Amino acid sequence: MNPQIVYLDGEFMPMNEARVSPMDRGFLFGDGVYEVIPVYQRQVFEWAAHLARLKYSLKATSINNPLSDEAWLDMINQLIKRHDWADQFIYLQVSRGVQIPRDHMPAADLTPTVYAYTNPLKPVADHILQHGIKVISLEDIRWLRCDIKALTLLPNVMAKLQAQAAGVDDVILVRADGSVSEGSASNLFMVKDQTLITPPNSHKILPGITRLVIEKLARRHHIDLIERDIQQDELNSADELWLTSSTKEALPITQLNGQAVGSGKPGSVWQTLRQHYQAYKNEILNPN
Ligand code: PDD
Repeated sequence: MNPQIVYLDGEFMPMNEARVSPMDRGFLFGDGVYEVIPVYQRQVFEWAAHLARLKYSLKATSINNPLSDEAWLDMINQLIKRHDWADQFIYLQVSRGVQIPRDHMPAADLTPTVYAYTNPLKPVADHILQHGIKVISLEDIRWLRCDIKALTLLPNVMAKLQAQAAGVDDVILVRADGSVSEGSASNLFMVKDQTLITPPNSHKILPGITRLVIEKLARRHHIDLIERDIQQDELNSADELWLTSSTKEALPITQLNGQAVGSGKPGSVWQTLRQHYQAYKNEILNPN
């Protein structure tokens, strides 16, 4: 197989030829931000929202935006073109750049390092769609700027390891005050009495693009939706729980801390929303 082609600082090259300095602040400090963007039938999904979030993350961290809006999209489209997969997901990251010697204080004149590559986007496995996923709840020990899509994901990685050790698929993160935030790499939705409930955007969660699309579809199809804080004990009486992200869309949670969620099967509101989501993707891909 041909090596994957990646983008690094203005050039396309085989992945195994891409080189970044060990003095890059992304490597030494996790000083950078990233995006994960789905591509369906070779078309970027919800580009405007992903670009807006990228710019938000860059601004919040005072990292210069190294490319124009057009250049970002052009680079992504070139990556897509260089690979055969119909459905892909683009990973892109911007670090503050290379700085010698190491110093917590960023130098003023740094050139951000831009890296991007694409992967095949695989559909969620049938057994997950049929049976859902198992999760545990876990204390959310992350910082209070989770609205920034920052490279620094150590707490999220540790949460995944704890899920694995507990023999489950993922976690629901809960702050020490009992309020529920999100998954380790996804947003959370709860269904109670046919109403969709999700925590409001704040510094405690990432403003997910999948979450945004689900909110749009709920409004369009007259499904009641409320943004409000969710307390941990409410999860035990939820009819449905979902985790949402760009690479998995909406995943139904059927077991929480060893107990069945609702009926213990993927719920009817999830089924309905999933159909609307697939229809929305088709509508975007085939306008008119
Ligand atoms: N993660 N919350 C967190 C902490 C996330 O890392 C993600 C996405 C989301 C969902 O956002 P979106 O719907 O825009 O994908 C919420 C990506 C997929 C990742 O890190 O790979």
